Amino acid sequence: MSRKVVASAPGKVILYGEHSVVYGEPAIAIALSKRAYVTVYPSSSSAIEINALDYGVKTEFPQERAKINVEHEKFKILQPIWEACLQVLEYTSTKQGLKIIVKSQIPREAGLGSSAAVAVSTIAAVGSLIEANLTPQIISKLAYEAEKIVHKTPSGIDNTIATFGGAVLFQKGNITKIQIGKNLPLVIGNTGVKRSTKQLVLKVKSLKEKYEDIVTPIIKNIGLIIPKALKALNEGDLPTLGELMNINQGLLDALGVSTKDIAKLIYAARSAGAYGAKLTGAGGGGCIIALTPPEKQNKVAEAIKREGGEPIITEISLKGVKIEEK
Ligand code: MEV
Repeated sequence: MSRKVVASAPGKVILYGEHSVVYGEPAIAIALSKRAYVTVYPSSSSAIEINALDYGVKTEFPQERAKINVEHEKFKILQPIWEACLQVLEYTSTKQGLKIIVKSQIPREAGLGSSAAVAVSTIAAVGSLIEANLTPQIISKLAYEAEKIVHKTPSGIDNTIATFGGAVLFQKGNITKIQIGKNLPLVIGNTGVKRSTKQLVLKVKSLKEKYEDIVTPIIKNIGLIIPKALKALNEGDLPTLGELMNINQGLLDALGVSTKDIAKLIYAARSAGAYGAKLTGAGGGGCIIALTPPEKQNKVAEAIKREGGEPIITEISLKGVKIEEK
């Protein structure tokens, strides 16, 4: 057994199709160059000790499933990592004390797939430490199982992207890889406003029930963006991709999931020269994403910062889960 393994996996953004995907329309998501890093050491104690450095929380968990108080903030952060370890140990019928250190470049609870990136890197690192030879398919599946226990109804997008990297098309539970013709220079703007995906999905549902004849076409129109975006992604046509992001944002606004904080960051990004900008994820707060010419990333980031957002300069990453050190 190695003395230490470090694994990493990327975060993600939804480029087009949030909310409409809930009603069977397609969505496109991509991996980001921001990653979560997990270091695993074997431990002679029987416990699984988890230390999330960025959040200053650390605790010991048992190697068997046990009830914990997930209302406690510390456990909320660490439980998914423990669950990821249990998935590997159970899958491989292994007993092994572990010491785990998590460091992430992906903000938590911002719709950027941070928990899946941590779960995937934990599973890959633990798998490699105990020499389990887990395939990427198994890593993704175990991460999905871990996410299911913690988040109840994950779509499968986050664990797939964190494992395989690149871009994926998601429709009715099917996930297919898509080809990208050119790098995508992106700036994310985090409003810092926490939101509940569940509440926002319910908000759209009740709007749809109240105004079925108006809202259903809006959802279908978001779906119509996706084939055009696929063509533009394939051709590396950034101006068209930006325009389609702006249209998608207008339709999301009509669904009631945009906010003043989101709009402020979007208009700041567009005024600073972005090809287009939209909210990403559930809305109600969380993050925006702007597609920019490569030379304007800094200017757009500064504009987002001036409006009170936390900018993250990034791009698409073709690199999925990776063993960094063994
Ligand atoms: C949230 O990241 C994306 C939504 O479409 C919800 C979902 O697909 O489960 C709003």
